[in-house]
Amino acid sequence: MVKSGIVFLPNAESTFQLGKILGGSLSAGTVILLKGDLGAGKTTLVQGIGAALGIKDSILSPTFTLINEYTEGHLPLYHLDLYRLEPQETEGLYLHLYWEGVEVTPGIMAIEWAERLLYLPPSYLDIKLSFTKDLQRQAKIDLVGLDLDLSKLGDRTF
Ligand SMILES: Nc1ncnc2c1ncn2[C@@H]1O[C@H](COP(=O)(O)OP(=O)(O)OP(=O)(O)O)[C@@H](O)[C@H]1O
Ligand SMILES: [Mg+2]
Repeated sequence: MVKSGIVFLPNAESTFQLGKILGGSLSAGTVILLKGDLGAGKTTLVQGIGAALGIKDSILSPTFTLINEYTEGHLPLYHLDLYRLEPQETEGLYLHLYWEGVEVTPGIMAIEWAERLLYLPPSYLDIKLSFTKDLQRQAKIDLVGLDLDLSKLGDRTF
Protein backbone atom coordinates (compact mmCIF):
# COMPACT_ATOMS: atom_id res chain seq x y z
CA MET A 1 0.00 0.00 0.00
CA VAL A 2 1.44 3.33 -1.08
CA LYS A 3 1.31 5.68 1.90
CA SER A 4 2.77 8.83 0.45
CA GLY A 5 3.60 10.31 -2.88
CA ILE A 6 4.17 13.42 -4.91
CA VAL A 7 1.72 14.43 -7.60
CA PHE A 8 2.83 16.88 -10.25
CA LEU A 9 0.17 19.50 -11.06
CA PRO A 10 1.07 21.40 -14.25
CA ASN A 11 -2.09 23.54 -14.31
CA ALA A 12 -5.18 24.46 -12.31
CA GLU A 13 -7.23 21.78 -14.04
CA SER A 14 -4.90 19.07 -12.74
CA THR A 15 -5.27 20.40 -9.19
CA PHE A 16 -9.03 20.23 -9.67
CA GLN A 17 -8.75 16.69 -11.07
CA LEU A 18 -6.71 15.54 -8.10
CA GLY A 19 -9.48 16.85 -5.86
CA LYS A 20 -12.03 14.98 -7.97
CA ILE A 21 -10.18 11.69 -7.61
CA LEU A 22 -9.91 12.20 -3.87
CA GLY A 23 -13.56 13.20 -3.57
CA GLY A 24 -14.52 10.01 -5.38
CA SER A 25 -12.42 7.75 -3.17
CA LEU A 26 -12.65 9.14 0.34
CA SER A 27 -15.17 7.89 2.85
CA ALA A 28 -17.31 9.83 5.30
CA GLY A 29 -15.29 11.06 8.25
CA THR A 30 -12.07 11.70 6.30
CA VAL A 31 -10.16 14.82 7.26
CA ILE A 32 -7.86 16.48 4.72
CA LEU A 33 -5.26 18.88 6.05
CA LEU A 34 -4.33 21.28 3.26
CA LYS A 35 -1.07 23.15 3.58
CA GLY A 36 0.87 25.50 1.35
CA ASP A 37 1.53 29.14 0.62
CA LEU A 38 -0.98 31.74 -0.52
CA GLY A 39 -2.38 30.75 -3.88
CA ALA A 40 -0.86 27.27 -3.87
CA GLY A 41 -4.13 25.68 -5.01
CA LYS A 42 -5.86 24.56 -1.81
CA THR A 43 -9.29 25.91 -2.72
CA THR A 44 -8.99 24.58 -6.28
CA LEU A 45 -8.44 21.11 -4.86
CA VAL A 46 -11.48 21.45 -2.60
CA GLN A 47 -13.53 22.54 -5.62
CA GLY A 48 -12.57 19.25 -7.29
CA ILE A 49 -13.64 17.33 -4.19
CA GLY A 50 -16.96 19.18 -4.26
CA ALA A 51 -17.48 18.30 -7.92
CA ALA A 52 -16.92 14.61 -7.17
CA LEU A 53 -19.45 14.77 -4.36
CA GLY A 54 -22.03 16.30 -6.68
CA ILE A 55 -22.04 19.71 -5.03
CA LYS A 56 -23.38 22.31 -7.42
CA ASP A 57 -22.89 25.39 -5.22
CA SER A 58 -19.72 27.27 -6.03
CA ILE A 59 -17.03 26.57 -3.47
CA LEU A 60 -15.19 29.67 -2.37
CA SER A 61 -12.56 30.07 0.29
CA PRO A 62 -14.32 30.55 3.63
CA THR A 63 -11.66 33.02 4.75
CA PHE A 64 -14.13 35.21 6.64
CA THR A 65 -16.75 32.66 7.57
CA LEU A 66 -14.14 30.09 8.75
CA ILE A 67 -16.34 27.19 7.72
CA ASN A 68 -18.69 26.49 4.85
CA GLU A 69 -20.92 23.46 4.97
CA TYR A 70 -22.19 21.92 1.74
CA THR A 71 -24.86 19.32 2.27
CA GLU A 72 -26.35 18.88 -1.19
CA GLY A 73 -23.85 16.24 -2.38
CA HIS A 74 -23.86 12.55 -1.54
CA LEU A 75 -21.58 13.29 1.42
CA PRO A 76 -21.43 16.56 3.35
CA LEU A 77 -18.36 18.69 2.67
CA TYR A 78 -17.05 20.81 5.52
CA HIS A 79 -14.62 23.39 4.15
CA LEU A 80 -12.54 25.40 6.60
CA ASP A 81 -9.98 28.13 6.12
CA LEU A 82 -7.85 28.99 9.15
CA TYR A 83 -5.85 31.74 7.43
CA ARG A 84 -7.09 34.51 9.68
CA LEU A 85 -6.59 32.62 12.92
CA GLU A 86 -3.66 32.42 15.26
CA PRO A 87 -2.81 28.83 16.16
CA GLN A 88 -4.15 29.18 19.71
CA GLU A 89 -7.48 30.43 18.34
CA THR A 90 -8.04 27.15 16.51
CA GLU A 91 -8.52 25.39 19.83
CA GLY A 92 -11.84 27.14 20.39
CA LEU A 93 -13.31 25.80 17.16
CA TYR A 94 -14.05 22.34 18.61
CA LEU A 95 -13.10 20.76 15.33
CA HIS A 96 -13.02 17.35 16.97
CA LEU A 97 -16.85 17.47 16.91
CA TYR A 98 -16.56 17.27 13.14
CA TRP A 99 -13.90 14.64 12.89
CA GLU A 100 -15.50 12.47 15.56
CA GLY A 101 -18.87 12.95 13.87
CA VAL A 102 -20.43 14.19 17.12
CA GLU A 103 -23.57 16.23 16.41
CA VAL A 104 -22.64 16.48 12.73
CA THR A 105 -23.26 14.06 9.89
CA PRO A 106 -19.89 12.54 9.02
CA GLY A 107 -18.58 13.93 5.78
CA ILE A 108 -15.36 15.06 4.21
CA MET A 109 -13.61 17.83 6.06
CA ALA A 110 -11.07 19.90 4.14
CA ILE A 111 -9.04 22.38 6.17
CA GLU A 112 -7.03 25.10 4.42
CA TRP A 113 -4.08 26.54 6.33
CA ALA A 114 -4.01 23.45 8.51
CA GLU A 115 -0.50 24.48 9.61
CA ARG A 116 -2.37 26.62 12.15
CA LEU A 117 -3.87 23.65 13.98
CA LEU A 118 -2.47 22.96 17.42
CA TYR A 119 -4.20 19.60 17.68
CA LEU A 120 -4.71 17.03 14.96
CA PRO A 121 -7.32 14.42 14.15
CA PRO A 122 -6.45 10.77 14.87
CA SER A 123 -6.14 10.07 11.15
CA TYR A 124 -5.94 12.35 8.15
CA LEU A 125 -4.70 12.96 4.66
CA ASP A 126 -1.92 15.53 4.69
CA ILE A 127 -1.60 17.44 1.43
CA LYS A 128 1.14 20.01 1.06
CA LEU A 129 0.89 22.06 -2.12
CA SER A 130 3.94 23.93 -3.31
CA PHE A 131 5.08 25.96 -6.30
CA THR A 132 7.46 24.43 -8.80
CA LYS A 133 9.00 25.92 -11.91
CA ASP A 134 6.89 28.28 -14.05
CA LEU A 135 4.33 28.62 -11.23
CA GLN A 136 3.20 25.04 -11.66
CA ARG A 137 2.45 23.10 -8.50
CA GLN A 138 3.11 19.82 -6.82
CA ALA A 139 1.24 18.07 -4.06
CA LYS A 140 2.99 15.97 -1.44
CA ILE A 141 0.41 13.58 -0.05
CA ASP A 142 0.87 11.62 3.15
CA LEU A 143 -1.59 9.26 4.72
CA VAL A 144 -1.59 9.38 8.49
CA GLY A 145 -3.48 6.52 10.10
CA LEU A 146 -5.52 5.93 6.93
CA ASP A 147 -5.78 2.91 4.67
CA LEU A 148 -6.32 4.49 1.31
CA ASP A 149 -4.51 3.18 -1.74
CA LEU A 150 -2.75 6.19 -3.21
CA SER A 151 -1.80 4.29 -6.35
CA LYS A 152 -5.32 5.25 -7.56
CA LEU A 153 -3.95 8.71 -8.19
CA GLY A 154 -2.19 7.52 -11.31
CA ASP A 155 1.11 5.82 -11.92
CA ARG A 156 2.67 8.90 -13.53
CA THR A 157 2.79 10.46 -10.12
CA PHE A 158 4.83 8.00 -8.13
N1 LIG B 1 -1.43 23.33 -10.55
C1 LIG B 1 -1.68 24.62 -10.81
N2 LIG B 1 -0.93 25.28 -11.72
C2 LIG B 1 -1.18 26.60 -11.97
N3 LIG B 1 -2.14 27.33 -11.36
C3 LIG B 1 -2.90 26.71 -10.45
C4 LIG B 1 -2.70 25.34 -10.12
N4 LIG B 1 -3.59 24.99 -9.17
C5 LIG B 1 -4.32 26.10 -8.89
N5 LIG B 1 -3.91 27.14 -9.66
C6 LIG B 1 -4.41 28.53 -9.66
O1 LIG B 1 -3.82 29.22 -8.57
C7 LIG B 1 -4.69 30.24 -8.11
C8 LIG B 1 -4.85 30.14 -6.62
O2 LIG B 1 -5.51 28.93 -6.34
P1 LIG B 1 -6.34 28.70 -5.01
O3 LIG B 1 -7.25 29.84 -4.74
O4 LIG B 1 -6.91 27.34 -5.12
O5 LIG B 1 -5.16 28.72 -3.93
P2 LIG B 1 -5.26 28.67 -2.34
O6 LIG B 1 -4.12 27.85 -1.90
O7 LIG B 1 -6.61 28.25 -1.93
O8 LIG B 1 -5.03 30.19 -1.96
P3 LIG B 1 -5.25 30.89 -0.52
O9 LIG B 1 -3.98 30.65 0.20
O10 LIG B 1 -5.46 32.32 -0.86
O11 LIG B 1 -6.43 30.23 0.12
C9 LIG B 1 -5.99 30.08 -8.88
O12 LIG B 1 -5.99 31.02 -9.93
C10 LIG B 1 -5.90 28.67 -9.43
O13 LIG B 1 -6.62 28.52 -10.63
MG1 LIG C 1 -7.95 29.13 -0.54
